[in-house]
Amino acid sequence: MQQKIDFLIIGSGIAGLSYALKVAAHGSVFIVTKSNEDESNTKYAQGGIAAVWSDKDTIEKHIQDTLIAGGGLCDEDTVRVVVTEGTERVKELIELGANFDKNKSGAYDLAKEGGHSEHRILHYKDITGYEIERALIAQVRNHKNITILDHHYAIDIITQHHLGEVVTSQSKNIICFGAYILNTKTQKIETVLSKITLMATGGAGHVYATTTNPTIATGDGIAMVYRAKGTVQDMEFVQFHPTSLYNPGEHPSFLITEAIRGFGAVLKTIDGNEFMHKYDERLSLAPRDIVARAIDNELKTRGEDFVYLDCRHIDRKAFIDHFPNIYEKCMKLGIDPFMKMIPVIPAMHYLCGGILVNKEGQTTLGNLFAVGECACTGLHGANRLASNSLLEALVFAHRAAKKGVDTLGQLNFKEGIPNWDAEGTENPEEMILITQSQREVQQIMSNYVGIVRSELRLKRAFDRLEILYKENEALYEKTTLSQKLCELRNLICIGYLIIKQSIRRKESVGLHYMVNYHKESLE
Ligand code: FAD
Ligand code: SIN
Repeated sequence: MQQKIDFLIIGSGIAGLSYALKVAAHGSVFIVTKSNEDESNTKYAQGGIAAVWSDKDTIEKHIQDTLIAGGGLCDEDTVRVVVTEGTERVKELIELGANFDKNKSGAYDLAKEGGHSEHRILHYKDITGYEIERALIAQVRNHKNITILDHHYAIDIITQHHLGEVVTSQSKNIICFGAYILNTKTQKIETVLSKITLMATGGAGHVYATTTNPTIATGDGIAMVYRAKGTVQDMEFVQFHPTSLYNPGEHPSFLITEAIRGFGAVLKTIDGNEFMHKYDERLSLAPRDIVARAIDNELKTRGEDFVYLDCRHIDRKAFIDHFPNIYEKCMKLGIDPFMKMIPVIPAMHYLCGGILVNKEGQTTLGNLFAVGECACTGLHGANRLASNSLLEALVFAHRAAKKGVDTLGQLNFKEGIPNWDAEGTENPEEMILITQSQREVQQIMSNYVGIVRSELRLKRAFDRLEILYKENEALYEKTTLSQKLCELRNLICIGYLIIKQSIRRKESVGLHYMVNYHKESLE
């Protein structure tokens, strides 16, 4: 059976949900999402959402902070759009029911994070994303035009390729007609035809061995668009968060929000000495790429496994009020933050690159939009400023929705799309072929394409990944599709794009730190 829907949204994080609420008055909406309806990177956001809010702050200051963090590679127009329109979008989120903490005088309690020159982060304790996701899901559930299909995994978008036409990256006017979706409860592959499709599939943390991202973050949307010959850009800019909790064996890694450093916590080596003064005058609150690299360098030169975050001097009540989730987590592990320092290490956290979009969120493929972490809008340049991604998702969801609603009336469903052809495929003989290959991809990426890179390491990563690519394509051809197999295929594609675009960039900038091109090498 083929389903027909005006708006097909792939992903139920902040991008997909806020877009759905904007378009639902104008047509029918399906949100397909591969896990539980609220499972997403959004749900785990801690620090908050950056917006110009206080009288002390200005649009210009937020723009400058974003540009500086971005290492000179941000699209300044996009930065201006996001910062200027952001405050209005956050107000809408509050109207939809999202709560943010207020101080005693009733004003929003604005936090500060690395790279921000002002306090401007709205937050709900240290579980801001959970609160945003809760509020948006509640609204979506109550909307008569929106259907959420959880445990539905998008395999590929449908284009002229599925009608037998030869489509290459040089082809003009490639159009998205919908997507093939695997219902992971029935194992049936459904054909969903749409007039407009939104990719809102989030990040790709699991291409690395250590990440703060939940397991859904396997870069599916970016890989789907790349396979369909859409443009993917800036993949070399992979953001490692400096402070994930060092707790060997825990996957994904638990985040220790940067807002704690904004609250006064200080980074120290195992012997209790501060080190950030050696790297940046902003000390523990320097932008993320600098702090992550500084920690990486201390670990390598000292031969140690973690550094410490010292919170012992912070007021106990204020800390617990602001960071109850982190406090509880630490206490469970026997780390009382007022007695002991918290062990932390950097972990893959955010992908700055992704599906290239214009200022209306349109990809290079017709009728396909992309919003959120899977998209590359130009906002982040070579390094994202903390708490700018939730903001970017809100602003671009609004813009993409407006464009989609404006064009919907001119669009029809495509006729003659074939259903998924699974003939000749068999169930996998051994799951180990999939799970072990995934581990190998993660090891290759973590060992050779991490915080500090070199031409030699990138070449080695490329050669190793090619072997996995060939093995997995052969497996894919003959195996009945499963979510795990598709995710592995996508992770290999993401790894390939990160390495290829890293090799292509012959400079050391922002998150792409290349020893070959850096004058004062850290190694
Ligand atoms: P997500 O929220 O990740 O949603 C993606 C959705 O797509 C999910 O529902 C997923 O299941 C679905 N999906 C993926 N692939 C498929 C598929 N093939 N088929 C069907 N569905 C699919 N940013 C900030 O601005 N401030 C913060 O404080 C902050 N803290 C963070 C803390 C953590 C621990 C993490 C991991 C990230 C944090 N970020 C923060 C980043 C921010 O949370 C994300 O960039 C943002 O939430 C991404 O939203 P999104 O809607 O694009 O994607
Ligand atoms: C954090 O709370 O440190 C994460 C903020 C972000 O990723 O923007």
